[in-house]
Amino acid sequence: MSTLILSPVKRCVGGLVLAGLLASCGGGSEDPSQQLYVIKFPHVTAPGTPKGQTAARFEDLAEARFPGRVDVEVYPSSQLMNDDDSLEALAFGEIQMIAVALSKFDRLTQRFQIFDLPFLFPDLEAVERFQASTGGRGLLGDLVEEGFLGLAFWHNGMKQFGATRPLLQPDDANGLKFRIMESDVLQAQMIAIGGSPQKMAFGEIYQALQTGAVDAFENTWSNIYSSKFYEVQPYFMYTNHGYVGYLVAVNAQFWQSLPGDIREGLEEIMAEVTAWGNARAAAINEDSRLKIAASQRTEILTLSNDEILSWQNRMQPVWVRFSDEIGPELIEAARSASFMEVGN
Ligand code: LMR
Repeated sequence: MSTLILSPVKRCVGGLVLAGLLASCGGGSEDPSQQLYVIKFPHVTAPGTPKGQTAARFEDLAEARFPGRVDVEVYPSSQLMNDDDSLEALAFGEIQMIAVALSKFDRLTQRFQIFDLPFLFPDLEAVERFQASTGGRGLLGDLVEEGFLGLAFWHNGMKQFGATRPLLQPDDANGLKFRIMESDVLQAQMIAIGGSPQKMAFGEIYQALQTGAVDAFENTWSNIYSSKFYEVQPYFMYTNHGYVGYLVAVNAQFWQSLPGDIREGLEEIMAEVTAWGNARAAAINEDSRLKIAASQRTEILTLSNDEILSWQNRMQPVWVRFSDEIGPELIEAARSASFMEVGN
């Protein structure tokens, strides 16, 4: 569990934004102790996913702690906007909190690309060790210049492949159109296996798979289950080849404008729900996998160690391609966290 609360942001996002922020967070001449502070928090996954459950818990605990003073409005399942729009809305103070996949920040910071390197992290525990390390925690501050305050990292789970045909060897993926998140590393990953990557919003996946606009994709069991992707994809490959996790960020000016007791209280609650949510993410994904298997609507294929090794070898050049952008020292920190013997 990693939470880092930064000092006040160096750069204002803009006068216009300040006016908007004061309006949204009830700034102005009223007595702060009588003011209602609204936190609009849109996200794209279903309520039952790790992110959905953790966001709802944050809402409940925040409103219980500050009745009449804090109103958290969580909008799951892309109800309010998709991730692309939420990044822009957060910068302009139209919303106050996001939990967007780390893969979607590469236009703002190249270092988050480390989380997309294929087969870097074998499981969530390895990600947790890296995110709790000095190098990992330092990433929370990468977006200060953009006016975003990184509060925490939330896990979803490990990524699996879905496709219209079995993918046991990398060559099996040749020519398939893969939906990917808006990530250059994931684009390179799919090209490395002979695929044709299509960047697409999360809310468009189901129809794209149903209509054949794309043939394949990658995601976590909890997303595959909760968004019913298993209904429109005949094969899934149990690869754990990558990771989906989130940066929880707030608009820095809004956050710094909150009364100290509210800001500190919300930061305590954020740390509490982060530990709570991250501790149950793996189990939520395993429960989703079992429900997908029980549905008998699709086939889940397990690959042999040799088959997994062939995917790792085919995707390895992606690490080299992005090493300079990410930083070799950060990659080394992630590798040592990944393969550290637990308990030493
Ligand atoms: C995706 O777009 O596949 C993911 O960002 C969805 C999620 O878990 O937020």
